[in-house]
Amino acid sequence: MSDKTYTESRQDMRVVVAGHVDHGKSTILGRLLADTGSLPQGKLEQIREKCRRNARPFEYAFLLDALKDEQAQGVTIDSARCFFKTEKRNYIMIDVPGHTEFIKNMVTGASRAEAALLVIDVVEGVRDNSKRHGLYLSLLGIEKICVLVNKMDLADYGEARFNEIARQYSEFLREINVESVSFIPVSGILGDNIVRRSENMKWYDGKTALETLESFSAEESPSAKPFRMPVQDVYKFTEDGDQRRIIAGTLESGRLGCGEEVVFHPSGKRSRVKSIEVFGATETDAVSAGFATGFTLADQIYIKRGELACKVGEPEPFVANRVRATMFWLGKKPVKTGNSFLLKTGTTKTVAKIVKIHRVWDASTPGFQVKDQIDRHEIADCVISFEKTIAFDTVALFPAAGRFVLVDGYNISGGGIIQEAMRPEADSASVSAADGKVGYDERCRTMGQKGLVLWFTGLSGAGKSTIAIELERKLMNRGVLAYRLDGDNIRDGLNSDLGFSMDDRVENIRRISEVARLFKDSGMISLVSFISPLRSMRNGARNIVGEAAFLEVYVKASLETCIARDVKGLYSKAMAGLIKDFTGISSPYEEPDCPDIVLDTEAKGVGDCVDSILDFLESRDLIAKSME
Ligand code: ADX
Repeated sequence: MSDKTYTESRQDMRVVVAGHVDHGKSTILGRLLADTGSLPQGKLEQIREKCRRNARPFEYAFLLDALKDEQAQGVTIDSARCFFKTEKRNYIMIDVPGHTEFIKNMVTGASRAEAALLVIDVVEGVRDNSKRHGLYLSLLGIEKICVLVNKMDLADYGEARFNEIARQYSEFLREINVESVSFIPVSGILGDNIVRRSENMKWYDGKTALETLESFSAEESPSAKPFRMPVQDVYKFTEDGDQRRIIAGTLESGRLGCGEEVVFHPSGKRSRVKSIEVFGATETDAVSAGFATGFTLADQIYIKRGELACKVGEPEPFVANRVRATMFWLGKKPVKTGNSFLLKTGTTKTVAKIVKIHRVWDASTPGFQVKDQIDRHEIADCVISFEKTIAFDTVALFPAAGRFVLVDGYNISGGGIIQEAMRPEADSASVSAADGKVGYDERCRTMGQKGLVLWFTGLSGAGKSTIAIELERKLMNRGVLAYRLDGDNIRDGLNSDLGFSMDDRVENIRRISEVARLFKDSGMISLVSFISPLRSMRNGARNIVGEAAFLEVYVKASLETCIARDVKGLYSKAMAGLIKDFTGISSPYEEPDCPDIVLDTEAKGVGDCVDSILDFLESRDLIAKSME
């Protein structure tokens, strides 16, 4: 477009520097600035001199403090930032003062880092905070992470200790699905492997810290993505009966040109862009990501703050009032299912409620826990519902999309990212979609039960159908109506066109999920037993059926046991190569992450498994208590 277009400047890379207090963040930053020649002339000497006069040993951290004060003078920049340049790009280094500030800044966009240096002290080793920072980085979608194992001079530049820390920390990162991170042994104080290659660690032949930063590829320009602008404000012209309104905001991604058709979500209102106003400029044809702008529309439509402006013809955002999210909690008091807060994303605010907590991690214990609350500093996968429907994107569009913060009073008490939009729950009050004359509640009252889906997953031969058959019998004995859906009545009929390729299995499970949802809406309890080998399939089923009525039952038996049982003789055939894509042999099975019920069929008999399901259902009031 013409030179009247507002586009980006020279390439910047924002890098966050994280690590436990005293592990040497400031020293490393000071070194980076000094050794890349980014300091004003005489600055280094000036600080050295000052230290001498005060009889203090010189530290790069002092230099950094002095510099921050200076760089911040007169300009309102965040004093936790400093800058340096290489031939390739400008670096904006963001020092992380504490979890809360960091997360707040990342989520609100005040500092959108795309890469990170994570500092670990070789003497102290991996601390909980080192892990927490790693967790937060991964959660915020920062994948370019370089771990600096600092103070190597204090550990005699020893290779073994360095390797030990690298091993420990990579193990942790693998657990949280962060891969391909580089580890560099450095000394911030002496400058080893920061910008200059170290003479003291001949055993290390990898990149220096600076070389690693330079090797990071920059993110795809947000301007190349679909147009997104959260509406910040709507200004009215007041002079001489001027009816125009300016829709103002900052472009998060994409470009917008005059004459283009825009659509606002969630309202769905549309119009054409009449003029574009960039503040301080006279006339503009187009704007691109990163710029604050305003535009007027050809039609007088009523738009509110908080809507998301998009372009007609480009991929639409999600519009929903329930999402699956990964969130961290910073509040002093734990948060529980049912708790509400204010959730902010883009310029939208809404009251949000935690509907279900799936699983929780904390930095000090390996793996995840299944529990009903999230304590301070923990991270959880959960389902959140909003009081109103909002428009949003997920990280799939760009790394910063879908981030939110949770506000409790005046404080930021947590934040996270939206993983996916979920269908609205068919709640008890509503009558079916077709607006019939019989509602769900009335059905349930008449039948004396609630609609429910028990989704049995597990390997072939684990015992899914056997347990479902017994459960169906026992439920009927109590006057509770249940119906089994399994290979016999689905794969032979509705899904007889599907085989066992992954695509076919996905479709198999999708159709079954839809059937189970209809059964649920009719007030029936369905006992669904299918291998459903992938987590995504089971999550999809949960999504279709609705959280409240879905229970994942993991029928657990090891592959060895199932092979030994070989009830249908299929494992031996599969191992002889007579059956293709056989689960566990030539096709994967992903164990459930956090099933609602686990039945260990190697330890318990069928009767006990059935009884434990009945106990579970009774304890949650999903079926009436037994009169026996
Ligand atoms: S799923 O993966 O799509 O959920 P589903 O539970 O419907 O599988 O079918 C599994 C049953 O089909 C097995 O118990 C077995 O009897 C039979 N079967 C036939 N071929 C295969 C195969 N390649 N993999 C797994 N099960 C198979």
